[in-house]
Amino acid sequence: MRKIFIKGGNPLNGEVAVSGSKNSALAIIAASILLPGKTTIRSVPNLLDVKTILRVLRALGLRAEYSASQHNTVEIWNDDVKHVAPYELVTKMRASFFVIGPILARKGLAKIPLPGGCAIGSRPVNLHIKGLEALGAKVHIEHGFVIVKAGKLAGGRVCLDFPSVGATETVMMAAALAQGWSIIENAAREPEVVDLANFLNKAGAKIVGAGTEEIKIEGVSKLNPVEYRIIPDRIEAGTYMLAAAITRGKVAVKNVIPDHVESLIRKLEEAGVSLKVEENSIEVHLPDGIRPLDIKTMPYPGFPTDMQSPLAALLCLAKGTSVISETVFENRFMYVHELNRMGADIKLEGQSAIIHGVTKLSSAPVKVCDLRAGAALVIAALAANGESLLEDRDHHLERGYENIASKLKGLGAEFKIV
Ligand code: UD1
Repeated sequence: MRKIFIKGGNPLNGEVAVSGSKNSALAIIAASILLPGKTTIRSVPNLLDVKTILRVLRALGLRAEYSASQHNTVEIWNDDVKHVAPYELVTKMRASFFVIGPILARKGLAKIPLPGGCAIGSRPVNLHIKGLEALGAKVHIEHGFVIVKAGKLAGGRVCLDFPSVGATETVMMAAALAQGWSIIENAAREPEVVDLANFLNKAGAKIVGAGTEEIKIEGVSKLNPVEYRIIPDRIEAGTYMLAAAITRGKVAVKNVIPDHVESLIRKLEEAGVSLKVEENSIEVHLPDGIRPLDIKTMPYPGFPTDMQSPLAALLCLAKGTSVISETVFENRFMYVHELNRMGADIKLEGQSAIIHGVTKLSSAPVKVCDLRAGAALVIAALAANGESLLEDRDHHLERGYENIASKLKGLGAEFKIV
């Protein structure tokens, strides 16, 4: 259990540097299974989820080392890979399932536990499976494991029913070593998908169209060892932008790719936040009150589901009523009851949160139920009167925010993790 104490009311001021993208790191580390020899990945955030995926790789027989002092570098040595992934790790972190594509491509066979549900919904893997079947794999589910067999994967065409990030990545990784061409239609366009394609292409893959809704992959017989630096984390960047706005401070968020947070920039401007956007930094300041917003989460380039709870925290203090509709996950409003304990006025209607703005939030003991809910509670607590206690039983914040305590303290927040 982590206890996080936050005394609200201090305007945040100064500069904060964003770390490497968690979601890119998880996919790229899984993809290193495809590469024989040594892979070096830089700018990998020092997070619990990264430690978990490295443990998965070790359980599969790879050597994987992390060095925070050497520019957050992961080194992976890959001779052979086992085909069975461990139950306790895959069920602990859903992204561990992403090893299915690379293992199948390398071994012609993979046995991966079904990840099961999690705090934000049931999270099925049917689209990953559909994609692998399109490449010629035979799939069956037995005793809680997905068993995929292919011998040598052939190229194929898959049209995803929904532009799932994970399914797009699974198919891209598997198709990289398949025989012939593969096409993914209705592919996810998230920057992390593009980052994975850039990593694979640097290693010798032939992938075009990542970042659009049609990705074409010409399979190659072998990939080569590679060194790669991953992109900055757009969700972490957005979280600090919102923390700056709600505390009415002035913060320059550094090491950000403004294009990747474009939908948030537009919404914050609409809410009255002043933003100075430069090549890789965004300065955030709230000159007057917060205007209410209507938001619908969508796949990229729409407004990201991972940003809706942190934005909801800001909108608690808007002058008027905001509506947030969640279209990506079915259960992403668990944080609402906790924000209401801090004096917010939010009602749930189906897949929408109706947020009536209040003039102040007050500190309270609250529970962190998932990673982005944790971010919302931190943002609310930074603006609340008095000291809040966030009980983070499963260390959610450390799953997604590198050095959050020192980054926020560097901006003037009173923030303590025990
Ligand atoms: C990734 C991100 C997560 C982000 C999400 C959406 C990682 C490690 N995580 O998760 O932070 O919130 O994208 O941007 O990159 N779905 C199916 N069948 C499938 C796969 C997905 O129905 O086989 C559904 C999911 O239940 C969900 C929707 O598709 O409702 C989107 O999920 P997806 O894009 O796959 O998210 P993840 O890749 O799991």
